Amino acid sequence: MLPNVYTPGQIPRILAGRKADLRRIEDRLARVSTYGELAGPLLVFHAPRGIGKTSLLRAAQRKADQLGFATAWTSCSRDRPVLAEVVDSVGRALERIDAVPDPTRWRGRLERVTLEVGVPGAKVQAEIARRDTPRPTAPIGALESLLHDAATMTRARGGAGLLLLIDELHAASAVDLAVILNVLQNLDGERERNPLAAVAAGLPVTPEALTRAATFGERSSFVALDLLPDEDARAALVDPAAEAGVAWTPRALSAVVEEARGYPYLLQLIGSTTWDAATPEAGTTLDMSDLRRGLPEAREQLTSMHRARWGAASALEQEFLRAMAATGLDNVTRAAIAAGMGQDSRSISVPRERLIDKGVIEPVGHGLVRFTLPGFGAFVRGLDDA
Ligand SMILES: Nc1ncnc2c1ncn2[C@@H]1O[C@H](COP(=O)(O)OP(=O)(O)OP(=O)(O)O)[C@@H](O)[C@H]1O
Ligand SMILES: [Mg+2]
Repeated sequence: MLPNVYTPGQIPRILAGRKADLRRIEDRLARVSTYGELAGPLLVFHAPRGIGKTSLLRAAQRKADQLGFATAWTSCSRDRPVLAEVVDSVGRALERIDAVPDPTRWRGRLERVTLEVGVPGAKVQAEIARRDTPRPTAPIGALESLLHDAATMTRARGGAGLLLLIDELHAASAVDLAVILNVLQNLDGERERNPLAAVAAGLPVTPEALTRAATFGERSSFVALDLLPDEDARAALVDPAAEAGVAWTPRALSAVVEEARGYPYLLQLIGSTTWDAATPEAGTTLDMSDLRRGLPEAREQLTSMHRARWGAASALEQEFLRAMAATGLDNVTRAAIAAGMGQDSRSISVPRERLIDKGVIEPVGHGLVRFTLPGFGAFVRGLDDA
């Protein structure tokens, strides 16, 4: 029996599509390695959960590793100090590629910078606001010189430069975002001395959060990641299977693509349950009967995700979700939800913000919101029938 080639919830074996997005990143890598300079402002990919942000960033990291970059990966979380994690990841990235001449001194340096970026947020915010500070604010100055040194050390050792990858950027505090943006802006002031690039990913609130953190945050390059078009959705199913000598019938393939609606997580999930139902060997072709046996398991999984999200919502949030689902629309206006809840449209802000923070719904511009997980609206409507 062949091991399952699909990866629901994990980095895919083969990244389908995303060619233009990878090219954007590769352009920046080329600028760093060719000219030894800082490549552009922060590049930020944003999308709801399960669309493939982490997968894209990991593919970029693999590419950069091959090109001789030191690649520092940080995943932001509300419970951990983001800047300290950036420092730690930069430290390890250089050690991985043997770019550290004196490891003991390097460790000491990292410890000092970690202390400096640990300065309480309120103090940093006040200093950033006071534009006339004679010295750079401690965390900014410390992180700035660390990134400069890390990038030049990499290059001195024959490497291409430093690639900073920051995932879940929306989870960083406003102060941490402000520090990161200020550091990159300062490094850009002496672009030719700083061979590095910074690429980040986050939920759809990320652009707004960056712009709020620092006015020049809006000069970051924002790229929305979308659902996979049909052709790429097919590739997500066909390519990993082909590597194992397994094929799909055109009919089964189309049926999965239709069911998953371009949602990468669902493609992997249905691919995976179909594979398990079929227990294929090299030379097997997955067909409609395999899919029919695999699909209930995938739907069951999706329903548990719906149930978990529903269960994690407060009574007021559930009321909000019901009103939203009742419209039967993909993109729902604030007014329609407020009307459904029998409320004034200004007074629904709290549950709205909370649900966006939890990633259950996302803003799609002009005050409209939509569910982030396919089928969630139908699930909520079904609750009333049960
Ligand atoms: N381009 C792609 N080709 C094939 N599979 C993909 C692709 N992008 C994402 N996937 C699959 O979709 C699922 C979600 O991907 P990923 O974790 O990268 O999404 P995400 O946007 O980072 O989600 P989250 O916001 O929850 O972190 C994974 O199972 C992954 O294997
Ligand atoms: Mg992710």
